Amino acid sequence: MKILFLGDIVGRPGREIIKENLLKIRNLENIDYVIANYENAAHGFGVTIKTANELFSLGIDAMTGGNHTWDKKEISSLFETHNVIRPVNLPEGADGEGVLIDEVNGEKIAVVNLMGYYTMPMVDNPFTIMESIVDELERQEIKHIFIDIHGEATSEKNALLQMFKGRVSAICGTHTHVGTDDLQIYGGTGYVTEAGLNGCFDGVIGMGSKEPIYRFKTGMKASYEVPKKCLKIFQGIVFDLDSSGKCIDSYKVKAYDNVQPFISQKAFHH
Ligand SMILES: [Fe+2]
Ligand SMILES: [Fe+2]
Repeated sequence: MKILFLGDIVGRPGREIIKENLLKIRNLENIDYVIANYENAAHGFGVTIKTANELFSLGIDAMTGGNHTWDKKEISSLFETHNVIRPVNLPEGADGEGVLIDEVNGEKIAVVNLMGYYTMPMVDNPFTIMESIVDELERQEIKHIFIDIHGEATSEKNALLQMFKGRVSAICGTHTHVGTDDLQIYGGTGYVTEAGLNGCFDGVIGMGSKEPIYRFKTGMKASYEVPKKCLKIFQGIVFDLDSSGKCIDSYKVKAYDNVQPFISQKAFHH
């Protein structure tokens, strides 16, 4: 089973670069299932019903979120109708679910959305919650387990790999938007600290530069804006899983405006 994971999709430029590349890559790489992070899909903040429908129509099968999950209130209705989840360690009573069980080529897959602790909104302990979730998925004999860990701290993501290597299929980081080059397969678990954004490449984490520079120089507030025009990047991580759920191959596919998809990184196996 070949899974493609797309990190944070930022605004219209993110949706456009996905439209230009996703179906092509799905066919070229024989991808069976696409998971993407929606948290910045609607003009940089959250996801609307309209943008979610657009993204699913472009070849995405399931979507995960993060600290921007609640930026658009209408997300709550998407939890009922679409393969849309939110961080599993949100306080009890939050709308939606944090684990999605789906079927791909007759095999069950669990997609887990987890939020880190450092500098993030109020969440329950991601490490202890993840232990009980993996225990439960193993009890249910679900072998294909994918985790989107949405967090700021690289140390938390590294620690998750050390805790769950060999027990889950893949752990992929999101939230910081700048992809890292540590793609690896460790004891059968595919891992990268940060998948990287889909959207504008020539601003500040997918947004225009003007407002962040103003904020950094003055300490005053200014709302981040998604540029109307920019150089766009597509980046996705492919995880090839065998029937036991082990990751046997992993690589990163990138594309830019006017640059066709290419493999930019191969996983280090150990
Ligand atoms: Fe984000
Ligand atoms: Fe985030």
